Amino acid sequence: MGVRILGVGAYVPDRVLTNFDLEKMVETSDEWIVERTGIRERRIASEDQATSDLAYEATLRVLDRTGMTPEDLDMIIVGTATPDMPFPATACLLQARLGIKGRPCFDLEAACPGFIYALEVARGLLSIDDTYRHVLVVGAETLTKITDFTDRNTCVLFGDGAGAAILTKDDSDRGILSAYLGGDGTLADLLYLPAGGSRRPASIETIQNREHFLKMKGREVFKYAVYGMQESVVRALELAGVKPEEVDWLVPHQANLRIIDATAKRIHLPMEKVYVNIDRYGNTSAASIPIALAEMEDRGLLKPGQIVVLVAFGAGFTWGAIVLRW
Ligand code: COA
Repeated sequence: MGVRILGVGAYVPDRVLTNFDLEKMVETSDEWIVERTGIRERRIASEDQATSDLAYEATLRVLDRTGMTPEDLDMIIVGTATPDMPFPATACLLQARLGIKGRPCFDLEAACPGFIYALEVARGLLSIDDTYRHVLVVGAETLTKITDFTDRNTCVLFGDGAGAAILTKDDSDRGILSAYLGGDGTLADLLYLPAGGSRRPASIETIQNREHFLKMKGREVFKYAVYGMQESVVRALELAGVKPEEVDWLVPHQANLRIIDATAKRIHLPMEKVYVNIDRYGNTSAASIPIALAEMEDRGLLKPGQIVVLVAFGAGFTWGAIVLRW
């Protein structure tokens, strides 16, 4: 018995922040941002919107699309690095909004590959026995809440959004064919949020030092990201026994168009087979892949039987790819 994605849904906040808006905030230019990243604009959550609010909207959309109700969901996993609060889990807050008291719910923090990690965990749980039949997997982020809008090195990159998928058992040949996950915690300090946890609890000093905003050594992250994304795709394809030329769609984490280009080149995949929406949303971390999948569904790009490869890399470092037959 396999596991497949029954449906996907996504939500992004209404407010658009363009590169031209950023030109007024920091020393940057639309030209620089487009050339170095491929990003033209991103969505920004409102002051009263938290990650669970975005996750809720995305969930309503996947329920609508699959004709299911919250009661049909047996478990909720939310992949996020920007939870509403350290605890309770964003998944618990989402469960309460959905009115399905009693169902297990937890967050999974694997940064940008959070959705991929969560898919693999859900696959494992669905494979055990008949305890769970439908698992809701959400990737949701409000990265702009931890972005320093005085730091041009990072503030041009990130955006907010959420995507949700419902996974179910499936005895056809559709579904997840392979997953390859990896990590390297020795490189943690290349991309991290210094304060607000047990290492550096919030204090006047941490606030004054702007330690509640993410820090990144972009150039180094870039090198590892290219390698991690490429390796993940190659390894996952090997595990699935699928040749690169059989791939119909590569759906990469949207961090930088140059990283996406390099990943596609590694398996000689033409860019027509690579889904790119970074120009409109920037890097939405764990939300980027499910947002892309939902858009592809909306546009009728995903056809049953197609081979789809999901791949991501992020803080930790963590990385991973999933090969599936849609
Ligand atoms: N506008 C204008 N100039 C900028 C800028 C901005 N927004 N941000 C940085 N610069 C400057 C730098 O200060 C540097 O100037 P210097 O040479 O005088 O020091 C110059 O541009 C080049 O910086 P560099 O860091 O080498 O640029 P880059 O080509 O590596 O691009 C990133 C920077 C951040 C876009 C790129 O490194 C990247 O995408 N890294 C990976 C980020 C990522 O994916 N993170 C999430 C992982 S999921």
